[in-house]
Amino acid sequence: MCALIQVGLPGPVRGEVRKCVPTGEDAEGPFYKPGAPEVLSTGSGITVSGDVISYPGCRPLPGARIEWWHADRSGRYVDSLRGMQKTGTKGSYAFTTSPPGVYPGRPPHIHFKVSVPGHKPLTTQLYLRGGEKAIRFEMVVEAE
Ligand SMILES: [Fe+2]
Repeated sequence: MCALIQVGLPGPVRGEVRKCVPTGEDAEGPFYKPGAPEVLSTGSGITVSGDVISYPGCRPLPGARIEWWHADRSGRYVDSLRGMQKTGTKGSYAFTTSPPGVYPGRPPHIHFKVSVPGHKPLTTQLYLRGGEKAIRFEMVVEAE
């Protein structure tokens, strides 16, 4: 039985409850850098949490590697706002960061890369509405 999950828009659609459906890909953009440190926090103000889930099968994925990066208040990408986390035994993750800044032509967003053995890598973005302090973001990755 698949868990009901929420996914976000424009890549993933937020506020819409859907069944276990692969999370949409979104642009990596030019600011990704590998090697972000494993951390619980890259700032303060908003907490993003959720599960990494396998499709099909809808099972949670322990040990999934999640990287995130976003712009600072002035719209620049800096190393201190890059982090990595691995999901725990129940496939969950949670990190706290600062509200992303904006840069020309883009709404506030956080970039993600998810890597899990046996699954296609996922690169996506989470779009923020502003004023949110706790955001749930499930990431559904496709088995290879
Ligand atoms: Fe970006």
